[in-house]
Amino acid sequence: MSIVYLNGSYLPMDEARISPMDRGFLFGDGIYEVVPSYAGKLVGFGPHMQRMQQGLDAIELKVHLNEAEWRTIAQELLERNGGGNLGLYFHISRGADLRRNHAYPENIAATRYAFVFEIAPPPAPDKAAARCFHVSTTEDLRWRRCNIKSTALLGNVMHYQHGHSRGHGETLLYNEAGELTEAAACNVFIVKDGAVATPPLDHQKLPGITRLMLLDILRKHSSIPVSERIVTMQEVHSADEVWLTSSSKEVAPVLSIDDQPVGDGQVGDVWLAAQTLFARHRYDY
Ligand SMILES: Cc1ncc(COP(=O)(O)O)c(C=O)c1O
Repeated sequence: MSIVYLNGSYLPMDEARISPMDRGFLFGDGIYEVVPSYAGKLVGFGPHMQRMQQGLDAIELKVHLNEAEWRTIAQELLERNGGGNLGLYFHISRGADLRRNHAYPENIAATRYAFVFEIAPPPAPDKAAARCFHVSTTEDLRWRRCNIKSTALLGNVMHYQHGHSRGHGETLLYNEAGELTEAAACNVFIVKDGAVATPPLDHQKLPGITRLMLLDILRKHSSIPVSERIVTMQEVHSADEVWLTSSSKEVAPVLSIDDQPVGDGQVGDVWLAAQTLFARHRYDY
């Protein structure tokens, strides 16, 4: 059984335990690094640790271990696992909190985990021995599959934190063309001159169930004009009302965007009609 490192201790892998509330598990909120070693000698350890630190800094994840301390952990793991050709895997997550909230929690300790795994001997400069590949091609979609309700939520978490750190409860998102997509954890609707619009579903948005229900309810039970169409950020900024939708919020009015009032800065009448209908029909689905 291989020996792993977890939060300051060395222990057999099957004894290592991490909370299911760990943000690495819930959100993919963490950074990892892999370093090869051959016969106990590390390859590129310094640059690997620098990249890891850059990632940690970029997501504001504080771990109080410097490169020398990481090296000690690496060497200890190599020794305890008998050397040979080993890959070292480091994984740092923001840690476990008591509740699930996108915003970065304060006062929780990062989870630090490292283990080793066997790797092939170092590639030799020898044509006959080269490990060759046959490959495919596809468009680079990383990560433009926001329609998948994946637990890899670090992007959403960072977007949510953008608003949270400014004292706001959500962050509206737009694409390169300046078109509204959604929010960090909600879909978005606008109202202009009594008409409701929300961006159409595609790979840039999660197909929210509240969005689906609200569209259906408004179409079936009201005469409010409703459209799924491209909504520019210009339209968002000049809308009479803006709403967020999600299962926990249902339909929630947005009163300001970047500290500028939406419409007259008050909860709107179309919102009241929409939330009233939603409340009436929420159990129809
Ligand atoms: C990115 C994102 N968009 C939209 C939503 C709203 O989806 P639903 O109405 O199904 O809760 C969520 C909810 O988690 C979300 O995470």
